[in-house]
Amino acid sequence: MMQLIPLDPNKEDQVAWMYEVRSHSQVVPFFFAPPPSSFQQHVQFLKKFIDSAEREFFIILMGGIKCGYCQIIHRGEEYEVGFALHPDWWGMGIGEMSAKWLINHIKDNCGRKDIVLYVKAGNNRALSLYTKLGFSLEKQEEERCFMRKKI
Ligand SMILES: CC(C)(COP(=O)(O)OP(=O)(O)OC[C@H]1O[C@@H](n2cnc3c(N)ncnc32)[C@H](O)[C@@H]1OP(=O)(O)O)[C@@H](O)C(=O)NCCC(=O)NCCS
Repeated sequence: MMQLIPLDPNKEDQVAWMYEVRSHSQVVPFFFAPPPSSFQQHVQFLKKFIDSAEREFFIILMGGIKCGYCQIIHRGEEYEVGFALHPDWWGMGIGEMSAKWLINHIKDNCGRKDIVLYVKAGNNRALSLYTKLGFSLEKQEEERCFMRKKI
């Protein structure tokens, strides 16, 4: 069974897991920004957002085992989302299940604003997943694809 649980910044295993996934050499190329330069910097990054209403982080679990994380960034007019699974868990449908869960969570709890995301051109797994879930390509600037789902 898949579950998304809000990241608890006091649980070191969750904080360390997010760092491990974000810094994984197979995950890093799919993000625009570089990973945190150290675990300490990752902790600082989380501290900055955890008490604000700006970002929500979730740990993705399959049968109680951590397999990735995702986030919602609350922007004025829309919500931006992002996902990262550990490569051991890619291609099993967990991305799709997690994204559906997050879309429903936003609809039910956050208010009805569009959901947007950025994907690197060439990230075909992510592009095909988001297209399947109703996101459309709004614009592409060099390697940056901007997608939107109207709610
Ligand atoms: C992108 C990511 C979240 C997708 O999650 P996932 O669990 O691996 O994806 P799913 O198994 O749900 O598959 C999604 C779809 O992509 C398809 N797919 C899988 N590999 C593919 C590939 N190499 N090329 C094209 N499509 C592919 C799947 O077939 C599936 O579509 P289908 O159900 O119609 O067959 C995950 O792979 C990941 O974390 N990647 C690294 C970080 C990243 O790219 N994040 C996204 C940035 S916003």
